[in-house]
Amino acid sequence: MKTGFNKGAARAALVAASLAFGLGLGAAWADEDEHEDHDEGVVAFEIPANPTRAFKLMIGAEVYDNWWETVGTEAPEGTHPAYPAAGKKKGATTWRCKECHGWDYKGAAGAYGSGSHFTGIKGIDGMKGADPAKIEELLRGPTHGFTEEMIPDVAMDYLALFVSEGQEDPSAIIDAATKKVAGDAERGAASYQTVCAKCHGPDGKWINFGSEDDPEYVGTVASGNPWEGLHKVKYGQPGGEMPALLTFDAQAIADILAYAQTLPAK
Ligand code: HEC
Ligand code: HEC
Repeated sequence: MKTGFNKGAARAALVAASLAFGLGLGAAWADEDEHEDHDEGVVAFEIPANPTRAFKLMIGAEVYDNWWETVGTEAPEGTHPAYPAAGKKKGATTWRCKECHGWDYKGAAGAYGSGSHFTGIKGIDGMKGADPAKIEELLRGPTHGFTEEMIPDVAMDYLALFVSEGQEDPSAIIDAATKKVAGDAERGAASYQTVCAKCHGPDGKWINFGSEDDPEYVGTVASGNPWEGLHKVKYGQPGGEMPALLTFDAQAIADILAYAQTLPAK
């Protein structure tokens, strides 16, 4: 069972007109009829009156994870035209930034350099510090082909900000060879038990992200794919209720992840 988070209800409540926000016109609440029409430029997250840098980076990182869950639109159909024939994935997942560029932002130079997610495509880390306008141009351009209907301008702005200024090299806390997190599991236990366990349970097994036959829990992700675990803990789950801890200091997050690696994977 997944959690009781009701995306439909939350989205109906939270739909905001991104174009109005983008132009600085302030809060414009769409009514439910408008929401059902899936208006161009409408996003499912509520933008605060004073969106902070942290808020923008959170949304940008969630767009990187899964843009349609973040924006509240339909999953794309077919396989992304730029997805290489040699890759093993197909369908909607090939439209996720992370699928081609990795959870560690290093593409072929990182964890996706081999295995079932291999694409051979480079990472986004080379664009650290780049002009966000250039990044947007690249993403709206022919190789990527992300239209405004897919990723509305406001979400695109936040994504470009994340690529330019938000991404942090995970090798500062994750050892790529052993996947071990440089954190204090004992200190992490305190945060885990008071924050994460509310939803994931003390053993991390309350929510199964996988299937009945192939279950995936907090422990599974933290140990098997700590880069994904780090991204999720810092930025939350796209379109979901999971909080983002990116304002916590990096050591506190590493400690939580180190503790999560001690939780059962099966
Ligand atoms: C289907 C695969 C695919 C997906 C999905 C994808 N990209 Fe790319 N991306 C590419 C390819 C191919 C290149 C060009 C790489 C090259 O020049 O060798 C690229 C290049 C980039 C670059 C430039 C890297 C550099 O240093 O030149 C950035 C930044 C980037 N992508 C960000 C994103 C973001 C953000 C998303 C999600 C909205 C995304 N990409 C989704 C395939 C993809
Ligand atoms: C308010 C509830 C809530 C809290 C608090 C919470 N999560 Fe989550 N978390 C979720 C939900 C819901 C999902 C998405 C589950 C799904 O899509 O199947 C999720 C997803 C995840 C995933 C990714 C699963 C995947 O592979 O897609 C990880 C890892 C995770 N949480 C770890 C944590 C950790 C560690 C903490 C504490 C810092 C935490 N969560 C706090 C609700 C929560």
